[in-house]
Amino acid sequence: MKITEIFETMSYGPAQEEASYVQDWLKSHEAGFKLFIDGKWVLPNSSDRFIESHNPATGERLAKFSAAGADDVDAAVKAAAKAFPQWSKLAGHERAKYLYTLARLIQKTSRFLAVLETLDNGKPIRESRDIDVPLVARHFYHHAGWAQIMDQEFSDQEPLGVVGQVIPWNFPLLMMAWKIAPAIAAGNCVVLKPAEYTSLTALYFAELCQEAGLPPGVVNIVTGKGDTGAHIVNHPDVAKIAFTGSTNVGRYIREATAGSGKKLTLELGGKSPFIVFEDADIDGAVEGLVDAIWFNQGQVCCAGSRLLVEEGIEGRLIEKIKVRLNKFRVGDPLDKAIDMGAIVDPIQLARITALVAQGTAEGAEVWQPDVTFPKEGCFYPPTLITNVSPSNIAVREEIFGPVLTVMTFRTLKEAADLANNTRFGLAASVWSENINRALEVSSLIKAGVVWVNCTNQFDAACGFGGYQESGFGREGGKEGLYEYLKPIGEWLPEGGASHARGGSSSNERVANGRSPHKNIDRTAKNYIGGKQARPDGGNTRVVLNHDGKIAGRVGDGNRKDIRNAVEAAFKNPGWSSATAHGRAQVIYYIAENLSARENEVVEQLITLTGVRKKAAKAEFDMSVSRLFSAAAWADKFDGLVHTPPAQNVTLALNEPIGIMGIICPDVMPLLSFISLVAPAIAMGNRTVVIPSERYPLPATDFYQILETSDVPSGVINIVTGDRDALASVLAKHDQVGAVWYHGSATASAMVERESAGNLKRTWVNDGRARDWLSAHGEGRRFLREATQVKNIWLPYGD
Ligand code: NAI
Repeated sequence: MKITEIFETMSYGPAQEEASYVQDWLKSHEAGFKLFIDGKWVLPNSSDRFIESHNPATGERLAKFSAAGADDVDAAVKAAAKAFPQWSKLAGHERAKYLYTLARLIQKTSRFLAVLETLDNGKPIRESRDIDVPLVARHFYHHAGWAQIMDQEFSDQEPLGVVGQVIPWNFPLLMMAWKIAPAIAAGNCVVLKPAEYTSLTALYFAELCQEAGLPPGVVNIVTGKGDTGAHIVNHPDVAKIAFTGSTNVGRYIREATAGSGKKLTLELGGKSPFIVFEDADIDGAVEGLVDAIWFNQGQVCCAGSRLLVEEGIEGRLIEKIKVRLNKFRVGDPLDKAIDMGAIVDPIQLARITALVAQGTAEGAEVWQPDVTFPKEGCFYPPTLITNVSPSNIAVREEIFGPVLTVMTFRTLKEAADLANNTRFGLAASVWSENINRALEVSSLIKAGVVWVNCTNQFDAACGFGGYQESGFGREGGKEGLYEYLKPIGEWLPEGGASHARGGSSSNERVANGRSPHKNIDRTAKNYIGGKQARPDGGNTRVVLNHDGKIAGRVGDGNRKDIRNAVEAAFKNPGWSSATAHGRAQVIYYIAENLSARENEVVEQLITLTGVRKKAAKAEFDMSVSRLFSAAAWADKFDGLVHTPPAQNVTLALNEPIGIMGIICPDVMPLLSFISLVAPAIAMGNRTVVIPSERYPLPATDFYQILETSDVPSGVINIVTGDRDALASVLAKHDQVGAVWYHGSATASAMVERESAGNLKRTWVNDGRARDWLSAHGEGRRFLREATQVKNIWLPYGD
């Protein structure tokens, strides 16, 4: 195109990014990329196992790379395990230097990385150059800092060991940085599998690891398809899996790792709302939408794919969007002046096309601008979908393409309700010039990130991750580091359970089976919605003292009782939004009322569990102290204010999870019950608690204390009975957001497996015992498990 023509049409001239030197590098690997294991390049065990990588914008073959089998993954895990002792013991400063070197190398090769990413993934060079690669470097810098101060900031934590990481294709390099930087900063060694469509930048990064002199085995890159990922997930010597990708694979991984003791973080799909109020800067909101749903062709887990617009401005906003889209430039991703590049693969293109077709069949109206794009390659136009209700598939399902649905609302409450009408909860964007309104709606939205008057902002200092079926765990920020660490000495050594009194529960359950015994005058019911409630099945269970004498009866709860208890918790969301000060007062009051009953409770502990008076008194005193601790923490487990490089402050708030299921052990039945329930409610959760199966009476006698302590109904619900049967109901219940389980290893596995339905968070003891009298019975560990972080991004300046 001549310059005169450009002036006449006011169109863009070609602005092609130079790619020959990247093509040269690819040519130098024509024989096929090997696997990066133990600091060396090795062929996969089966030499015919190669996969091809294509440029989605042209269909041209870029390279072939290895598909790792089970043996290869095993070799990578062994290499990581071998490197771990030395790497984890290295002084933080030494690890920091390696991360810093990697950050510098990424900056020095940034143009190369951006071009390679664009060739392999199809995203515009403008994005890979200005967003992905700078964020990758920032991640390594930021985590170099964490490595440096690890000893001061995480002195009670230790690294996990070998970490398995499986990443998707939408931000290949960035997701790799989000995974590797915190893992190795914390002292772990990693085996990472990039996505099969986009493995090339991870392979180049492996070369940078060699250049940085990173000790062999600290980072291993094994390429391959889903089965390679599954080998990593199922490897017995992997201590943690970090996954980003589809919700279905996330669910599979939750089930596959259940009971393995592997730590797990899942960053899954989303269907994020983009809410525009009448008082928003509409032109700003239109540009925001471009970044929300047409960034990276909409292949973004937190894409603002559901536009919710206040009724009065719907017409005006849609008109402006159409004007903007009619000028959209879709085409060669290496052209610096295009808006949208190529869809990653023909399979993904077919998926987008099919979902839009199904939405249309369900009554949606589809509008696409009259833009031209190359005939070859995987391209899809920016798409606007109107005339839809919340039930339309295009509104419900993650399309993962450049497709926006539009719905209207009339009130703030309706906007929040529509925003929350999804099983996901990854992100949201709120547009209003009224900061009060924007913050109010931000607080109502159930999502891990809320962007006010901005969208798709990311930074290493600010945690990112979802609520509900968008997964659990955070990447970035201090909370992201904790995902790669564990508390030192958290569990008692094998056999410690008996030391901590109470023993295993299998024999005890026999002793506590249903019994026809008569003449028992103490029969505790369940405690549901602030009232004592007869068990649904009408059955009771005999409770025996440690010496086999009958101590009383409790209700034999069933599925229906759990459902009622969850329902009661559901009906009282007020506790979660009550002030922390108010919650603290209630918990102090519980402590006060418990301490007034000291003699009676100590006596009960002695008769029931057979401990000496001194031990019973110690358990009692610690129970009161623990209530004080929970009350103290209620208004002190504060969030943070981050200052990312953008002109922004980011408020990281610790929010309650919602409804939690808590299953208590038999050891120290009063103290363990209080140690678990108190921090959960202090953080604003409502709970359904299964007390010790063997010794439930300290919990059932607690009803009277709850009744006199102003605990609102539905905040603590207690159902007695068969621990594992009731735990299973809680684990499967879709309204329960998290389950804490203390009991056997087998049932811990069951809880993790059965939680996969709604991907609820779990915290299980895997059959191990905790010393409830020690510092491991309280503190930040419990508070982190009882909360989820929401990051609210607030830009400032005109
Ligand atoms: P996917 O979830 O299948 O792939 C993500 C990664 O998981 C890849 O590295 C893949 O090889 C690996 N993987 C696949 N099966 C596995 C298994 N059984 N065990 C271990 N690893 C396994 O995503 P896919 O099929 O590429 O995309 C399908 C849909 O998923 C997209 O349309 C989109 O809706 C969603 N998606 C969401 C992402 C996100 O960031 N939340 C990223 C990628 C896809």
